[in-house]
Amino acid sequence: MSEFAVWMQACQSRMEAVLGEVLPPARIAPQRLHEAMRYAVLGGGKRVRPLLAFAAGEVTGADPARVQYAAAAVELVHAYSLVHDDLPAMDDDALRRGKPTVHVEFDEATALLVGDALQSLAFEALASKTLADAPAAQLKMVQLLAQAAGSRGMAGGQAIDLASVGKPLTLPELEFMHIHKTGALIRAAVLLGAHCGRASDDATAALDHYAKCIGLAFQVVDDVLDAEAPTATLGKTAGKDAAHGKPTYVSLLGVARAKELAQELRADALDALDGFDAPAGRLRQLADFIVERSF
Ligand code: IPE
Ligand code: IPE
Ligand code: MG
Ligand code: MG
Ligand code: MG
Repeated sequence: MSEFAVWMQACQSRMEAVLGEVLPPARIAPQRLHEAMRYAVLGGGKRVRPLLAFAAGEVTGADPARVQYAAAAVELVHAYSLVHDDLPAMDDDALRRGKPTVHVEFDEATALLVGDALQSLAFEALASKTLADAPAAQLKMVQLLAQAAGSRGMAGGQAIDLASVGKPLTLPELEFMHIHKTGALIRAAVLLGAHCGRASDDATAALDHYAKCIGLAFQVVDDVLDAEAPTATLGKTAGKDAAHGKPTYVSLLGVARAKELAQELRADALDALDGFDAPAGRLRQLADFIVERSF
């Protein structure tokens, strides 16, 4: 295993433990809701957003014991977004992270409540412990996640996604949708990780630029994988975008150009890290991972 793969696995195990601790135990009432929340969050997923938070924290000298709660908050919002994204009213998917989706394993009403409760839990995780030196900095982190999750972030992007089915979007429209539905939470992961340490305005601006590029690249690659990768590798049903008439980078540009664009975005992301030197090593490796991944 590469040194990067070992680091990734260590962060993923750490997140599994932190998320397991933050989530209410399944034996506590209401048991079925808690069981479904744990089902949605634990035992799967690449944990890319937490990895980005830890990596950004390395740039600003953040204590990983703080970053892990910021990372958990973003991952909880992400997990909620997946549960709702899979509902029949949205993408109507039966498979997620190699398991039946929450509404299939439990029921639709439970899936709605799982999303609601995971979102609240995310903000509880972000507000319950000291994660920044100054209270004002931590308040800023809460605001960042709220904006990233809301109508001017992920939820807004999802609204555009649903309104765009069967419509040929222009490239700027598609970029706007992807930046919101996926880019916003990835950006929040990087910035929250950074804010657990000492992030100067210049460093924050550079990390923000990195995050915007890699966040868009992430969804471009997701679109490519939906078109090219097998269901067994993805752990979610392949080919759903075309089947549902979703405008994607593949439907607009074709697979070859979409892949080129992902590479261009990676290069832009790496350029943004130029001023950082060695502490940004993990962010560089993650940019490579996000663009080269096969699942
Ligand atoms: C899938 O996200 C949904 C998108 C935002 C593209 P991930 O590919 O990060 O899913 P998990 O967390 O690894 O399952
Ligand atoms: C999902 O985009 C984005 C969010 C969940 C916010 P997709 O609908 O493409 O994600 P997958 O492919 O189902 O994971
Ligand atoms: Mg979707
Ligand atoms: Mg989907
Ligand atoms: Mg997709």
